[in-house]
Amino acid sequence: MQSSEVSSTIVAPAPPLHIVTPLLKSRKLSSKMGASVWLKLESVQTSGSFKSRGLGRLCQKSVAEGCTNFVSSSGGNAGLAAVFCAQELGMPITVVVPEPTPPFIVAKLKDEGATVEVVGKAWDDANERAKVIASSPGSVLIHPFDHPEIWTGHSTIVDEIQAQLMGVVPDLLVVAVGGGGLMNGVLEGLHRIGWGEIPVVAMETKGAGSLNACAVSGEWKQLDAITSVAKCLGAKRVSKRSFEWLSQHKILSRVVTDKQALSACVRIADDHRILVPPACGAAMAAVYEDVISEAQKSGELPDRLENIVAIVCGGNGVNLDSIYKWREECEL
Ligand SMILES: Cc1ncc(COP(=O)(O)O)c(C=O)c1O
Repeated sequence: MQSSEVSSTIVAPAPPLHIVTPLLKSRKLSSKMGASVWLKLESVQTSGSFKSRGLGRLCQKSVAEGCTNFVSSSGGNAGLAAVFCAQELGMPITVVVPEPTPPFIVAKLKDEGATVEVVGKAWDDANERAKVIASSPGSVLIHPFDHPEIWTGHSTIVDEIQAQLMGVVPDLLVVAVGGGGLMNGVLEGLHRIGWGEIPVVAMETKGAGSLNACAVSGEWKQLDAITSVAKCLGAKRVSKRSFEWLSQHKILSRVVTDKQALSACVRIADDHRILVPPACGAAMAAVYEDVISEAQKSGELPDRLENIVAIVCGGNGVNLDSIYKWREECEL
């Protein structure tokens, strides 16, 4: 074939399934911290959380490779994001959830077009069944957090922050940690763009502190049970990659009480008109509950911080009634 005959068809990459989210400078938190506090609003993603980024990438890649059916084992934000991605891509999806999953979640998943199977007492049972379904030809398991494509998808948060800060380099990033997918993505992004020196505060709640158990013991630990109200942070063990990152990046692993996380949810609703569930409240508690200031006092973080970015990861487990209830519980 002559070079002039070479086909010049360019296949445009598929547009991502997530949206570019706003980066909002919080006046209230900036004045509290004596630094600019930036909120990366993943709560406005159509699926309700940052999960659209990574799961969207994995779903799109799977379709490009010939996948004909998605399988998820999450009745939480990951399941909802997987169902959203399936809808956007016109793909069928089966979601396997454990028996304790609230009926309204099952109804919501069905309403959104998923085939729902209820299997076993806990997530591990549902996940085993999901793996069996996903082993049939054409099916792909869309894991809630443990896949390199998911981390690369989540890493787009960092590219957006870099563009939105227009030359300003933050001194600190704050993330919530469940299985560690979000943290892995943020760290991947930071290192890719040359921001590998920026420390990360990794927030969990007591009773869901699987990363903290690793940080304290130096081992890839598994929790016996999840006892926190922040169920979406409830991975008994973080991904192996998250454990590895602990020794490859300056990560301050911190745990707050459920009450501190709930209180942060109420405060961010009051201050910014944003509704988030306790998983995201855990991240916001880093600022509201003085976790960062304490780390400055103990010398783990510099006295002077100029720009702090907190990822408002979002989540669906919240409504006005829950905010009123949490406000009473926290006596705010
Ligand atoms: C709202 C919300 N925030 C944070 C997390 C933690 O994300 P990861 O499991 O990637 O650490 C989750 C996980 O489901 C979540 O739903």
